[in-house]
Amino acid sequence: MTFRIKVRRKIKQYFFRLKLHKLIQPFAEGMLTLAYYSKFSQWCSEQGKNFLYKDLEIGTERRFGLYQFVFDHLHLDTAIQYLEFGVFKGESIRWWVETNKNPDSRFTGFDTFTGLPEDWNFRYEKGHFSTEGKTPDIRDSRCAFVAGLFQDTLQDYVNKTTLDKKTIVHLDADLYSSTLFVLTTLITKLKKGDVLIFDEFSVAKSEFRAFMDVVQSYNVKYKVIGAVNNYHQVAFEIA
Ligand SMILES: C[S@@+](CC[C@H](N)C(=O)[O-])C[C@H]1O[C@@H](n2cnc3c(N)ncnc32)[C@H](O)[C@@H]1O
Repeated sequence: MTFRIKVRRKIKQYFFRLKLHKLIQPFAEGMLTLAYYSKFSQWCSEQGKNFLYKDLEIGTERRFGLYQFVFDHLHLDTAIQYLEFGVFKGESIRWWVETNKNPDSRFTGFDTFTGLPEDWNFRYEKGHFSTEGKTPDIRDSRCAFVAGLFQDTLQDYVNKTTLDKKTIVHLDADLYSSTLFVLTTLITKLKKGDVLIFDEFSVAKSEFRAFMDVVQSYNVKYKVIGAVNNYHQVAFEIA
C-alpha cells in the first residue's frame, strides 16, 4: 500500500470517528454549488466553440430564439414527438404546438400542476409553480397533458408509446431529482438525431449535474446545438 493510500485511509477513519460532518455540513451545500459551477465553467470553455447558435446576453425571452434555431436547423416542420417535463402555464409547449403544424406531430406535457414536489432553493420552495391542478388551455387535439409526478406517470407512458418519430425532450423541471429521473427513464429509448433542450442548464447543481451524470453513466454521445441567456437554455442533439 502506498503512503498516499495509507494517509487517505487514516483521514477517512478519523473523519468518521470524530464525526467531522458536524463541522463540514454547514458549508457542504455551498461547496457543492461552487464545485458544480467550476465543472460547468470548464464545460462551457471546452464546448463553447462547438455551438452553432449562441446568444449569451441575459434574457429569458432569448429561449424562443433558441427554439427557432433548433426548429430551422433540424427542419422540425415534420412529424415530431415533443415531450415537455415541467409545463406550468404552458408557455414553452404552446410555442412548439403553434410552430410545428404537422398533423402527425404529438405534444405531451408532464407536470404535477400542483408545483414543485420539493424545495429547489430558498426562492423556489415546494409548491412553487402550482396552477392548482389546471392544465394549459391549448386547444389542439395533438397536444395532451399528463398530471402527476414524473416518477408516477412516465414509466406507464413509456410502456405504451414508441418514440419512433423524431423526439424532442424539453427538460424544464428545475430539480436535480426530477431531471435525473426523466433522463434515466428516457435515455435508452432515444435515438440518434433526437433533441434535448434544457431550461435551467446553468443552475449547475441541478440540470447540468443530472445531464453529466447520465452522459457518464450511459455513455451518451451528444452534439451541442445552441445556447442562450448565459447558457441558461441549451440544446443538444443525440449523436
Ligand atoms: C419552471 S416550471 C416550468 C415552466 C414552463 N416550461 C414554462 O414554459 O413556463 C417547472 C415545473 O416543473 C414541475 N415539476 C418539477 N419536478 C416535477 C416532478 N418530479 N413531477 C412533475 N412535475 C414536476 C413543477 O410542477 C413546475 O410546474
